[in-house]
Amino acid sequence: MRKQIAAANWKMNLTLQKGEELLNEIIALPHSLNEDQQAIFAVPFPYLAMAHQKMGGYKNVFIAAQNCYNKKSGAYTGETSVEMLQSIGIKFVVLGHSERREYFNESNQFLAEKVNICLENSITPIFCCGEALSVREANSQNEFVTKQLEESLFHLSAEQIQKVVIAYEPIWAIGTGKTATSEQAQEIHAFIRSQFAAKYGAAVAENISVLYGGSVKASNAKELFSQPDVDGGLVGGASLIAAEFVAIINALK
Ligand code: 13P
Repeated sequence: MRKQIAAANWKMNLTLQKGEELLNEIIALPHSLNEDQQAIFAVPFPYLAMAHQKMGGYKNVFIAAQNCYNKKSGAYTGETSVEMLQSIGIKFVVLGHSERREYFNESNQFLAEKVNICLENSITPIFCCGEALSVREANSQNEFVTKQLEESLFHLSAEQIQKVVIAYEPIWAIGTGKTATSEQAQEIHAFIRSQFAAKYGAAVAENISVLYGGSVKASNAKELFSQPDVDGGLVGGASLIAAEFVAIINALK
């Protein structure tokens, strides 16, 4: 059965001290995760070890990196390998966030290589996809997202694809306060699952968690997560406020 996941993406925010404070506040607030639920914190690289040490002991709680490089090791100044992440106990990496695609020119092909190196090293990619406003306005979101999935993921085997978490994040809803309606989210999540079903079969598609991202907050999480194909959220702004993120965890189905 696929997992229901509340994933925090801190992006390039907070200091070490503020990050630690936030995690302490989250721990102190009442929340619960059942067997099929996970909470994941994608924190900046310098805080990975601290966050893993603090949260690693809690059941179904994981720390994620926000990126990794596509090469095993070598002369790539400033980059971080999956082996490095693994050596400090990290099991998840966010890949292909629209901010990385836009500001760092990450292509579908480049992301395919990152997906491969993660899976080869037993790290779960949280693979982001999603369209810009102009694409949505042209009603081409299905074709756009299909191309992202095809070019970065469809070379994987059925066994491998079930180790990937998908995050659908419409760019027009990221940091804008404008959330996709639960109907819009359900529609495209069902479409994404249907693409996996067409490629890998329905049983495999049923095992893949598809998270929604884009202005998820305490006030809309329950409604979004109640949709049958929305398996949780990847949360930016609201994940920086303890009470908000805990409410989002508690909104998981
Ligand atoms: P916001 O929740 O701030 O809209 O960000 C979403 C996001 O990009 C998560 O990766």
